[in-house]
Amino acid sequence: MIDSVKVFAPASVANLACGFDILGLAMEAPGDEIIARFNSETHQLRIASITGDEGRLPRDIESNTAGFAAQQFLKSINYSGPGIDLEIHKKMPFGSGLGSSAASAVGAVFAVSQLLGGQWSKHDLLPFAVQGEQQADGAYHADNVAPSLFGGIVLIRDNQSLDVMHLPVPEDLTIAVIHPQIEILTKEARSILAPTVPLKDLIIQSGHLGSFIVGLYTEDYERIHRSVIDVVIEPQRARQIPHFFTVKSIAEKLGALGCSISGSGPSIFAFCRGETHAQSIAERMGDIYGAHGIAVDVFSGKINTQGVQIIP
Ligand code: HSE
Repeated sequence: MIDSVKVFAPASVANLACGFDILGLAMEAPGDEIIARFNSETHQLRIASITGDEGRLPRDIESNTAGFAAQQFLKSINYSGPGIDLEIHKKMPFGSGLGSSAASAVGAVFAVSQLLGGQWSKHDLLPFAVQGEQQADGAYHADNVAPSLFGGIVLIRDNQSLDVMHLPVPEDLTIAVIHPQIEILTKEARSILAPTVPLKDLIIQSGHLGSFIVGLYTEDYERIHRSVIDVVIEPQRARQIPHFFTVKSIAEKLGALGCSISGSGPSIFAFCRGETHAQSIAERMGDIYGAHGIAVDVFSGKINTQGVQIIP
């Protein structure tokens, strides 16, 4: 029997402009590393250590996203074996719109399930990771958790029943993502949203969503470009992100296949074609913040199709 498992759970970009709360994709980097280890001196699940959080995350199981997710999973299987320690290594910013709490929840549930033999599918684990993330932002949605868990681009028909589908990832589709170092908590970014959507916007947004999905299936980059548009959420959240429209217009001028807010922000993503294209667009987007003296993290690359995985 193994006595410890280390996993990498990737960051994710939720919403993808046209699918608020129902679309998301996994990034190659950054992500969290989580270790689950048996501790025969106790019979409890414990958080043994957290690094990279500057002391900001709760250490008790019930209030920690990763701890809560793992605990819910263990309860569901009536686990009564030796104690389990979790080591959480935060390797991505919080409040960034990159699915930080989702990555921790996914990493913890997956690491614990692998430690116990790995007989559960990723679909079996999904509800526990979503419950963990709900602990952080108060809402039950899987658009960060599902991509971090499964990889690729996911579509969620219904968040309550977690009816999740895997969409195709066109060969050349890449992403540029920048994270200006300003913190926006998802809970707050959700609280500013109007509770209703005008009918005309619903019609426009539904058209974009359907067209984006067709674009993925047909590898039609022009169609993807025409569809990565958000007339509902972006106009409400953009004002919280300084220089958002300057960054978006640079990305568009440089030929990005659409640019919008990543999750609840402040990160901004752009779809690109090819890794070189993504890298140069990400750098130019990041330069806008550099010029205004705002620190920024810059990421670019392919879409991670593997999701959470065991690492050495
Ligand atoms: N769909 C969620 C939101 C994602 O935009 O509030 C949070 O990262």
